[in-house]
Amino acid sequence: MQWSCVFSSSSSWPLCVVVCACAAVAAVVAVPVAVVSPPSFRSANLSTTALLSADRYGKTVLAGDEMAVAVQEYADCAVFRVQARTRGYVALGFVDPIAAHSVDVLLFWVDDETGVGHLLDMHGKTDTGLTPEKDVSQDYELLASSQNGSHVSAVFRRAWDTCDEHDDVVFGNDTMRMFWTTSDRDPIDRQYTDALKLGSSWKGSQSFHPRGPKFRPNTDYYKKWDVTMDNMHLKDNIDTLYWCKIFRAPKINMKNHIVGFVPLLHADTQSLIHHMILYECDGGPDSMEKYVTLKGAQCYGNAMPEDWNKCVSPVVTWAMGSDGQFLPDHIGVPIDGRDKYYMLEVHYDNPTFRKVMDNSGVRVFYTGHLRANDAGIMAVGMAVSPMHIVPPRQSTYRTVSLCDKDCTNVIFPERGIKITSVLLHAHLASRQLKLRHVRHDQEMATIAQDGRYDYNYQQARELVKEVTVYPGDELITECVYNTEDRPQLTHGGYSTKQEMCLAFVTYYPRTPLASCFSMTPVPFFFETFGVQQFLDYNMEGVEKIFLKLADSTTKKPPVHAPATHVALPAFDDAKTLDELNQAHISYLMKQPSFTIEDDNEPNLFKDLEIMEPVEFQNKTFQQHLDNLPWEDGLLTRNIENRLNNGKHMTFCRLHNDTLALMMNTYAFPNFTAYREPFNDACVALSNKFQNTALTVQSSYLLILLSTALICIH
Ligand SMILES: *[C@@H]1O[C@H](CO)[C@@H](O)[C@H](O)[C@H]1NC(C)=O
Ligand SMILES: *[C@@H]1O[C@H](CO)[C@@H](O)[C@H](O)[C@H]1NC(C)=O
Ligand SMILES: *[C@@H]1O[C@H](CO)[C@@H](O)[C@H](O)[C@H]1NC(C)=O
Ligand SMILES: *[C@@H]1O[C@H](CO)[C@@H](O)[C@H](O)[C@H]1NC(C)=O
Ligand SMILES: *[C@@H]1O[C@H](CO)[C@@H](O)[C@H](O)[C@H]1NC(C)=O
Ligand SMILES: *[C@@H]1O[C@H](CO)[C@@H](O)[C@H](O)[C@H]1NC(C)=O
Repeated sequence: MQWSCVFSSSSSWPLCVVVCACAAVAAVVAVPVAVVSPPSFRSANLSTTALLSADRYGKTVLAGDEMAVAVQEYADCAVFRVQARTRGYVALGFVDPIAAHSVDVLLFWVDDETGVGHLLDMHGKTDTGLTPEKDVSQDYELLASSQNGSHVSAVFRRAWDTCDEHDDVVFGNDTMRMFWTTSDRDPIDRQYTDALKLGSSWKGSQSFHPRGPKFRPNTDYYKKWDVTMDNMHLKDNIDTLYWCKIFRAPKINMKNHIVGFVPLLHADTQSLIHHMILYECDGGPDSMEKYVTLKGAQCYGNAMPEDWNKCVSPVVTWAMGSDGQFLPDHIGVPIDGRDKYYMLEVHYDNPTFRKVMDNSGVRVFYTGHLRANDAGIMAVGMAVSPMHIVPPRQSTYRTVSLCDKDCTNVIFPERGIKITSVLLHAHLASRQLKLRHVRHDQEMATIAQDGRYDYNYQQARELVKEVTVYPGDELITECVYNTEDRPQLTHGGYSTKQEMCLAFVTYYPRTPLASCFSMTPVPFFFETFGVQQFLDYNMEGVEKIFLKLADSTTKKPPVHAPATHVALPAFDDAKTLDELNQAHISYLMKQPSFTIEDDNEPNLFKDLEIMEPVEFQNKTFQQHLDNLPWEDGLLTRNIENRLNNGKHMTFCRLHNDTLALMMNTYAFPNFTAYREPFNDACVALSNKFQNTALTVQSSYLLILLSTALICIH
């Protein structure tokens, strides 16, 4: 196995020599491997028995009876252990939704007569009905296999990046979607030259994060607190529902630490639960105790008591696909049993209008054995507002939001905060998310990113290395959307068909910051679309409406109410801001909610009629947006650039729902973008070197190969 050397090479072979020399020394003097980085496969020195044993595997990808998959991360490769209830073949498909419907297919079986295991690296296209073909370059290596009367097992490995850019997906930090199927017989042709028709015969799929640490639950040791809905009746006429319920903290007399949670889901309603967030409330028994017996209320609507608006600090964030989260041993989220209240928010996504009863929630684990640091969770990203727009028919459209330097400067301690994990959150059109980090005019390493975001799999990412964010640093949350299948413009909003762009960040030490959001300033937004003046309202008045909307709805969806048209309250500069706010709150409360199922979904943009300029006159702003020629790439890029690189109005919100700073408008910061260290670390398996298809690179590979041999012997 010479390849463990080749992979650590960079583009020039002398460096390879250096790297290899170090590796060789390390193997001899047994320099301890840094805790954070996994060892190379070879240095783990595993026997076949060890490879087949389940406890070697760090991550369970799938734990079914019919199919079980686990993966172990090594510096140079991923090792998979697959076990299936069949004596025939097993096929896995790894899909890169961004790379034009190509599927990296893996086929294995154990010959029933000879007992010999076979593994084939294949590829196919989903859009032609999947008939995979054998890759020219075979980049998976079978390490062990076994078969008994009912099951087949195999252990195999592949490099993270196999160099086979056409036929193999790259495994890395991005979410990977795996499809699987089994057959009850081995392939007829053992060389596998006849057509295998997988078509749409996949039996299941599961997303996972191939790289990065996995949260390890150790639940025996902790006290548990179940926070669940109480026979919540989901009606059959609502597609998107945010339901909130208040809970009293468990009876504990002193500070404890929340150390983790798992979701409590039920088979019949599981598919309807889009996300759950448990917020800590800033209110004692006087204001909160009376709500504990309530079944709950529609979140943020007029039926929700005002006191509940004080529940803004997330302590647990769960989204679809996640199996929970456990914090590292040195941090815990404080929970104080004396007079503390919490609010559980459940986002039900019920597109087929099922009528069901639900008791979903979370099991929170906590302990009195306090950990060294109090942790907090803050939300950063785009304020949820219709001003967050994603045009129709775009293959990639990017939006950015800013957590500004003044907010971090005022809130974060001098020594900075340390981020331990990040949950990236957006809705269906999102393909890529990034949490970027800027210090002065220099961008630091990206804190978290996913180049293949899967809405159905939102597991928090534990960072390999904690990231320190100092006062004055800026955080940028960036989302890339694909709306090729959408004829209409998508707005920011709470429905899963509307969009969001958020990162829930777990960090320590805890600060009073609950969220740090931004949105495009209202006048700048309308200016970008060439609108100077609306009928009846001056720009300042319009701004006030939207600010109230953005401000009071950064986590508040609009209210379901009869679809009666209500006039916007008139603006009168003599009125105090408070009166205006009241007027607009009542206005908003009378607005029907926007379910996007309805093509005529009402929103504020439909109430604004354009007066100036004349060419857009008498259109509503929404009509104006819908009429823009978005298919004109130049126009769309200009709008995208102007909104992203232009102005951002920020909200630096504290646990008690007050703003730490006045809302402020910032130009997008100028900085030198972070450059990923050059990492040309694709690895060819040894058998690939015999492959004639690689003649172009052969001399280069020869050098690598000979270097590798020198290093190993
Ligand atoms: C690997 O394991 C075998 C048997 O367990 C042992 O003889 C050998 O010395 C080990 N090699 C290294 C490099 O640890
Ligand atoms: C066959 O192997 C599977 C998985 O390795 C195991 O669960 C099962 O009990 C085995 N069956 C028999 C008959 O040994
Ligand atoms: C994955 O992310 C970590 C930081 O979290 C980074 O150090 C590493 O280089 C990334 N790996 C790949 C393959 O991008
Ligand atoms: C807009 O409507 C007003 C009143 O109905 C009318 O006078 C005006 O000509 C219209 N403008 C355009 C551009 O159609
Ligand atoms: C909110 O919290 C901040 C800091 O913790 C404090 O300074 C402020 O007075 C609080 N405001 C209210 C209205 O409680
Ligand atoms: C960035 O640079 C541009 C032009 O050089 C300038 O107009 C803009 O104000 C700068 N932004 C910031 C935040 O300094």
